[in-house]
Amino acid sequence: MKNVLVIGATGQIGSELTMELRKRYGGSHVVAGYIIGAEPKGELLESGPSEIADVTDAEAIVKVVKKYDIDTIYNLAALLSVVAESWPRLAWKIGVDGLWNVLEVAREHHCALFTPSSIGSFGLTTPHVMTPQDTIQRPTTIYGVSKVTTELLSDYYFLKYGVDTRAVRFPGIISYVTPPGGGTTDYAVDIYYSAVRGEKFVCPIKQGTLMDMIYMPDALHAAIQLMEADPTKLVHRNAFNLASMSFAPETIYAAIKRHVPEFEMEYKVDPLKQHIADSWPDCMDDSCARSEWGWQPQYDLEAMTVDMLEKLRLKLDK
Ligand code: SER
Repeated sequence: MKNVLVIGATGQIGSELTMELRKRYGGSHVVAGYIIGAEPKGELLESGPSEIADVTDAEAIVKVVKKYDIDTIYNLAALLSVVAESWPRLAWKIGVDGLWNVLEVAREHHCALFTPSSIGSFGLTTPHVMTPQDTIQRPTTIYGVSKVTTELLSDYYFLKYGVDTRAVRFPGIISYVTPPGGGTTDYAVDIYYSAVRGEKFVCPIKQGTLMDMIYMPDALHAAIQLMEADPTKLVHRNAFNLASMSFAPETIYAAIKRHVPEFEMEYKVDPLKQHIADSWPDCMDDSCARSEWGWQPQYDLEAMTVDMLEKLRLKLDK
């Protein structure tokens, strides 16, 4: 990787991935691609170049790729699962038509391309416990349908044109920096904000609902490590199961309560979120990621909880 473009650089993953890439490769080598209305600010704006890079506008992306001699693109443009259910056409336009644009740019300009998939690419008929790398993918959300398409199109461009496409299936990502907004796994972020603000948490997901989750530093590390991996070792490409921790609401609540004894939680289940959560794996088998490119998470629930509480207390001045 010499010069990198991050599309969606002001979003949930992009805002932190851009900064992490700049730390590793130098600020001037990592372009923050954004859309109008979501302009970079503060450190993100000041630490390197930024350019408009809307996935629905292929020409604009080509201009940026040429201007900065880009060789690697992280395409993070997407709507999350819950919000996508309200805007299915838009979710497809961004997630699939947008990807097609980026794949074409990558093909013509010889760029490697990372476009994340998700636990959302699985559905009710997928084996839910230790979900295998290669298994049934029949999601019933537009988010999932577009993520499966993302995986297939990315593999297609690799097989047909040799475009160096690689991806992971991210679990729910937890971070204290940019809030996710519109995902099914967002509760696992929101719960920390409630704990630090001294508020009771109202959980939209039913007790006993297991989902894979990951702490942001591990998620960033995974994306970068995969893009730097030796291609001759990769049997799979789009996309690798990525596991780190799996828990239900009562488990994360108990983990927080050990540090915040007065913290309270009640359940008020959101039917759409619950329906989506029920269709996703309880826990994925990520042995292919471990054996093909050395994936190894650093954070478990306890380590993440300690760090989240500490960082959020500073951020919220509590
Ligand atoms: N975090 C995402 C969501 O909940 C899943 O990848 O939509």
